[in-house]
This record gives sequence, structure tokens and C-alpha cells, in this order.
Amino acid sequence: MSEPQPVVDFDFHGKALDTIFDDYQLMLESKPVGHSSKYGGFWYITKSEDIFQAEQDPDTWSVAPGMMMPPMGTEMPLIPIDIDPPEHGLFRKLLLPMFTPMEIKKLEPGMHATAQELAEQVRTAFATDPVVDVSTRFARPYPTIIFSRLAGYPEDDWPMFDRWIDEIIYDRTKSPEKAQAAGDELIAYVTRLVDHGRAGNAQGGIMGALLQKTVNGRPLTDEELLSYGYLLFLAGLDTTAWALRSSLWYLARNQEAQRLLRAEPERIPDAVEEFLRTLSPVQAMARTAKRDTVVRGQKIKAGERVALVFGAGNRDPEIYENPDDIDVTRENNRHLAFGGGIHRCLGSNLGRKELVIALTHFLATVADFEPAAEEPWHGVGSLRLRLSGGE
Ligand code: HEM
Repeated sequence: MSEPQPVVDFDFHGKALDTIFDDYQLMLESKPVGHSSKYGGFWYITKSEDIFQAEQDPDTWSVAPGMMMPPMGTEMPLIPIDIDPPEHGLFRKLLLPMFTPMEIKKLEPGMHATAQELAEQVRTAFATDPVVDVSTRFARPYPTIIFSRLAGYPEDDWPMFDRWIDEIIYDRTKSPEKAQAAGDELIAYVTRLVDHGRAGNAQGGIMGALLQKTVNGRPLTDEELLSYGYLLFLAGLDTTAWALRSSLWYLARNQEAQRLLRAEPERIPDAVEEFLRTLSPVQAMARTAKRDTVVRGQKIKAGERVALVFGAGNRDPEIYENPDDIDVTRENNRHLAFGGGIHRCLGSNLGRKELVIALTHFLATVADFEPAAEEPWHGVGSLRLRLSGGE
């Protein structure tokens, strides 16, 4: 294959947020479909319309061998995200009853209580410490605790969950062995839960419900349960933590937006959509061409890997006015942060609700805050803040 010269040898991992957004504008303007040499080589698709089209066309774009690029600590296909039709629909359907608005509503009192409790802890920490890491104290534990309740995992295990997430998601590009080891630990953990439930012990939450489900008239196999458990773990925890962390990062750097949302909390749902659009917790997901095809004039051959770059599509100037401006009052904000086709995020309503509740409690409880230091930020790791006007 003759590879065209890339505009940028694009990689969506490990970059500071401000730099990746500069890359996107360059790609959108001069080479909206291009090639990167990373991860064995892949095409990137950046225009919103092209991403939506690919999302809607599973006959051309397969999710095999996996949507994550590179894989996340396991080579096993994750259900339902790495499964193509017609099986995909069968497996996705089993999860639908657990994500209805009624089910999400049941979690709301717990979300309020946990968000308030953690926000109080941040406020107290500021009383003695000028600099507080709000990632460790707020953005990470909150979604992990909510998810544990939903999934039926012991809530107190959350620090272990967060370590696995770091090693699986963030260390995998630098240290695949570490990611693999964490993936093995997670598999062993979910296996124990499955065995526990199979042995007739009470098992609540999603895992408990899946143990009762059938597909094509047969119960789910242990491998299928494990695969669901693994995927939900990756899909449900860090996405929401990332979104929360980066929303706070933006608010820390923009006092005016912070004060507006504090004074008019009814604007927080629109602000959350704008943070999701512009900061895109999942920057990209992979597909494989099932047949030779052409995207925006670029030939892509059967078998080649492609990244649908949601983070770039969400800043496409053809769709959004002043796409790089983060305007917390923006309305009618249709974006790609949750994907857009048959694999569209099943947890989108849950994630949105979690974010709105978390930001509402945080802003109501913690006084004006700003970054402890002006440093490049990657969306991951610690988020060190201080109260505005502090030393
Ligand atoms: C802000 C938070 C979240 C974001 C930004 C997000 C984003 C995404 C994205 C981009 C996809 C792939 C869509 C595609 O390729 O078309 C996805 C799939 C998925 N997400 Fe989320 N997600 C979030 C929260 C959650 C939560 C809280 C859960 C569950 C606890 C969840 C469960 C899933 C599942 C099960 C899939 C696979 C759906 C399928 O293959 O049919 N997500 N998510």
C-alpha cells in the first residue's frame, strides 16, 4: 500500500489536551481522512458527517477484532462493543432493561448523597491544604462508586478498580505487559463474581441480572458473562471520571463560566453537553473495513483499520459555529461523544445524569477554584486545584 504523507502522524493517546485539539483543526482543514503509522497503521476519519455515516454502516465497517486500539488488556472480544450484527443486537438487548430511565432514576438518590459527601470532603481538605487533587478526591471515586452499585460489585473495592483502570487504559501504550497483568486481575475478579452467583449466592446489579438471562434460548456462558463484566468496567468508570475531571479542569481555568453555573445551576445540563462535545472523553474508536471503500475520496482497502475520531468530529467547523469555543450556554448541541450508530453508548443517560449531579454538588459546595499551576494537562492523572485568590 502506498501511504500518503500524514498531515500529523496522528495519535490520540498521551497528548496534552490543548495540543490534540490543534492537531484536529489541522486534520479537519487539510486532510480530513489521513493515515497514521501508529498501532500497526490506521486511517483516521475526522469529519462529523463521515463518522456518522460509518457509524450507521456496519455492513462496511466491522468492530472486529476490537473497537479499542490498541486492545485494552485482553484480546477477547468484548460484548457488545466488539460484536457485529446480527449477534450484536441479541447481546445488546439483554442490557437494555438495566439502563432504562426508570432504572437510572433509582440510582439518583445515591448519586446525590455520594456527590455531596465527596464535595464536602474536598471543601474540608481545602481548609487545611492549599492544593487539593480533585481527581483522586472527587472525579474518580464518584463514578466508580455509582457504577459499583449498578453493576453489583462491592463498593469498597473502588480503589482497586481505579488502579486497574489506570493500568489497562493508560499504561497500555507504554507498557502492554502491565495492562495485560491488570486485565488478568480484572478477569479473575469478575470470574469470582460469576462463580459466586452460579453457586446460588445472592448477586445483585447487572451481573446478577445477566446470570438469569438467556440468548438464543440458552443461558449465557461463563466467557460471555466475563466479557460483559470486563466491558462494562471499561465503559462505565473512566469515561465518566474523564468527563468530570476535564469539566473541572475547564471550569478552573474559566472563572466566569464557573460563576455563571454556580449562580444559575439550571444551565449545568447544557454545560455538560458542551463539555462532552468539546472535550470528548472517548476521543476515538476503531473499525475495520470489511470491503474496499472510499471515504471523502480516499480509498481504504478491506482489512485496513480506521479510527473514527469523535473528538475531531465534535469540533468540525461545518457543524458547529466557533467549534473550539467552549460555550457553556450553547443549546441544541448534537455531538458524537457517545458515538452515533448501533453501538451508541448504552450508558449515555446514566453518564449525563452522573455528570450533572456531580457538578451541581461540587459547585454548590466548593468555593471558586483555579489551577494550582499552569501546566499542560492530558485529561488523566491528578487535577491539582487551589481556591481562587490563594497563594
Ligand atoms: C460520559 C460518559 C461516557 C461516554 C463519553 C461514553 C462513550 C461511549 C462511546 C464513544 C461508545 C462507543 C460508541 C460507538 O462506537 O458508536 C460507548 C459504548 C458503550 N458504552 Fe459508553 N460512555 C460513557 C458512559 C458509559 C457508562 C456509564 C456505561 C455503563 C455503565 C457505558 C456503557 C457503554 C456500553 C455497554 C457501550 C457499548 C454499546 C454497544 O456496543 O452496543 N458507557 N460509550
